[in-house]
Amino acid sequence: MILKFKTDKKIIALGDKGQEIGYLDFGYSQDASNNRNIDIIYMHVKPEYRKMHIGSAMIKFLIDNKPDVVWISLWTGKEMERIKGNKFYIKNGFKKMCHHKDYYEKGIGTTLFARKINERI
Ligand SMILES: CC(C)(COP(=O)(O)OP(=O)(O)OC[C@H]1O[C@@H](n2cnc3c(N)ncnc32)[C@H](O)[C@@H]1OP(=O)(O)O)[C@@H](O)C(=O)NCCC(=O)NCCS
Repeated sequence: MILKFKTDKKIIALGDKGQEIGYLDFGYSQDASNNRNIDIIYMHVKPEYRKMHIGSAMIKFLIDNKPDVVWISLWTGKEMERIKGNKFYIKNGFKKMCHHKDYYEKGIGTTLFARKINERI
């Protein structure tokens, strides 16, 4: 597998034949203290390539290439909430910060996960 930046806001994972097998969209904004934070907007691994550590590799690649951030965070997507797959984020060093009930629809909320990378820059 090869990981690379497709644009400055998107990482793609490519398989052996150069086919796209996963992607991660993110924001990299500067806050009022001039520190930068990453928000993961969405990530996806093709179903047949899941549980092969490709999602974790994309998060690691992002952090390794943006070492100047204080926080990396995300609000979980609908599919993740439906299958209760939040363990993926815990395994990648994130902490559950809060939960917003019935966000997508009744019974399907969204959860904020965050991981501190640096105290400050
Ligand atoms: C979430 C997603 C990107 C994870 O990608 P992945 O490549 O399968 O994840 P990894 O193989 O790196 O998983 C790392 C660890 O998390 C665990 N994990 C991954 N998906 C999980 C799930 N759905 N439920 C529970 N644990 C999960 C793995 O078992 C693995 O544990 P291990 O280290 O003990 O083997 C992928 O399942 C996906 O594309 N899902 C559909 C879209 C989605 O929900 N995106 C997230 C939006 S918030």
